[in-house]
Amino acid sequence: MLNTPLPACKGILLAGGNGTRFYPATRIISKQLLPVYDKPMLYYPLTALMLAGIRDILIITWEHERALFQKLLGDGHQWGIRLQYASQDKPRGIADAFVVGEEFIGNDPVCLMLGDNILYGDRIPAQLQFAAQKTNGGTIFAYYVQDPERYGVVRFDENNRPVEIVEKPTKYLSSYAAIGLYFFDNRVVEWAKQLKPSRRGELEVTDIARMYLSEQALEVIQIGRGVAWLDMGTPSSWLEAANFIQILEHRQGLKVGCPEEVAWRMGYITSSQLLSLAEPLLKSGYGQYLQKLLESNVVREGYSALF
Ligand code: G1P
Repeated sequence: MLNTPLPACKGILLAGGNGTRFYPATRIISKQLLPVYDKPMLYYPLTALMLAGIRDILIITWEHERALFQKLLGDGHQWGIRLQYASQDKPRGIADAFVVGEEFIGNDPVCLMLGDNILYGDRIPAQLQFAAQKTNGGTIFAYYVQDPERYGVVRFDENNRPVEIVEKPTKYLSSYAAIGLYFFDNRVVEWAKQLKPSRRGELEVTDIARMYLSEQALEVIQIGRGVAWLDMGTPSSWLEAANFIQILEHRQGLKVGCPEEVAWRMGYITSSQLLSLAEPLLKSGYGQYLQKLLESNVVREGYSALF
């Protein structure tokens, strides 16, 4: 079990958006509920927050889809976490999550993760736990990609200090994309309220990051090549993510993004609770996997291979 920190940091998962880039697959169901290989998409960012030690999480959805998310995830007690729900009536942009979540955030720092992002690598839990314990400033993560123009992009100086961050730059700025995971102190709520919509009509999280940057309060962690950051903005990237998960899981016989396993290994639930979660699922490989986790050699050896 990890030496779990107990940060006050709240978590927000953004599972709204209109999903038009995914039409018609997402006409009647939210993209974040689609399966990515063997489990719903939202399980991946949810387990990232759980691995960060964050146990108090708000899920923001469209009003008319909230019931489906609640049916899938409940109030989180089964995984030793607390899940609450809020709705956006229209997609105002990522930074609107801090306004919608104002009451939930209270006086605490907050971590926002986009519901269509996957982050995978063995140093990730420790990095996230570190960021979750900070109470001052902001922390974001930058990842080298071949198509930076699709993202928020961070430019660094020769000492690797961030100097500029621009949403979907039209001219080449750098190859480092800001991934969809943001840790901010409590100032974010007031700053989000002051934002004006961008040219694409959205409240941009990149503008929030720029506010922290101008106060010299933004840490940008460059994620190395040994980590996978995948976003599922299009059907092709969704299929790539599913293939990635299938390859890893098949090779190792260990699951990625499994909330039951993460809850158990983080010490949020006991072995007997894990067994009762497995029981109704035993007809699927997923349930059998949960049951097998309790065999002693898997407990001992499987831990380092979890992430
Ligand atoms: C959003 C953010 C962008 C970030 C990206 C990560 O882009 O605006 O800064 O790099 O998520 O997935 P969008 O999905 O709105 O195009």
